[in-house]
Amino acid sequence: MEADLDRILFDESTIHRRLDELAVQIANDYRDRELTVIAILNGSVILMADLLRRLPMPLKLDCLSVASYHGGTKTTGELVFRQLWMPDIAGRHVLLLDDILDSGVTLATIREKIESIGPQSVRICVLLEKKKTRLRQVDAEYVGFEIGDEFVVGYGLDYMERYRNLPFIGVLRNDLIAATT
Ligand code: IMP
Ligand code: MG
Repeated sequence: MEADLDRILFDESTIHRRLDELAVQIANDYRDRELTVIAILNGSVILMADLLRRLPMPLKLDCLSVASYHGGTKTTGELVFRQLWMPDIAGRHVLLLDDILDSGVTLATIREKIESIGPQSVRICVLLEKKKTRLRQVDAEYVGFEIGDEFVVGYGLDYMERYRNLPFIGVLRNDLIAATT
C-alpha cells in the first residue's frame, strides 16, 4: 500500500501526539457537561477509537453512516443517510467527529439534521481540514491538521474503500486516481 503513495504527510507518532493535544482541549472544554460523540462512518473509525480512549470523562457514543462519494475523489454534493433513525440527542452536547472537512457538504448537511433534533450544543472535530473554498461553509472547532487540496488516504481515509488501515496519512499517487476514475 505504501508504494501507492506519493508521500507521507503525517506519520503515526505525529498523529498520536496531535490527538493527545486535541483530547486535552476537548476534555477541558467539556469538563462540566456530558458529551455525546457522534462519529461519522466509515472515515472516522480509527480517529474515534484513538481519540475517545484519550478522553478521561463520561460520554455517550453514537455513529452515523453516510456516503457522498460513490467511489470517486470528488463529492457528488448529495448525501445519503444509511440509517432509518437519528440518534436521540435532544438537549445534549454533541460533538460530531469526522475524518476530513473537504467541500463541507457532509458536515453542513449532518449539522443541520442534528440541529433539527434540538441538541443543547453542536461542535465539530475533524482530523484533517483542507484549505480550499468550500461548497458549504462549515467551521470545525477542533482540527487535527490543515492540509492542501490534495487527495489523502490512511488512518481511516479511503480511496474506493481501500487504505483505511494504513496507520499514517499520505497523498495518493495521482496516476492511481486517474487510472480508476
Ligand atoms: P465533504 O462533504 O466534501 O466535506 O467530504 C467529506 C467526506 O469526503 C469525508 O468524510 C471523506 O470520506 C471524503 N473525503 C474528502 N476528501 C478526502 C480525501 O482527501 N481523502 C479521502 N476521503 C476524502
Ligand atoms: Mg470516504
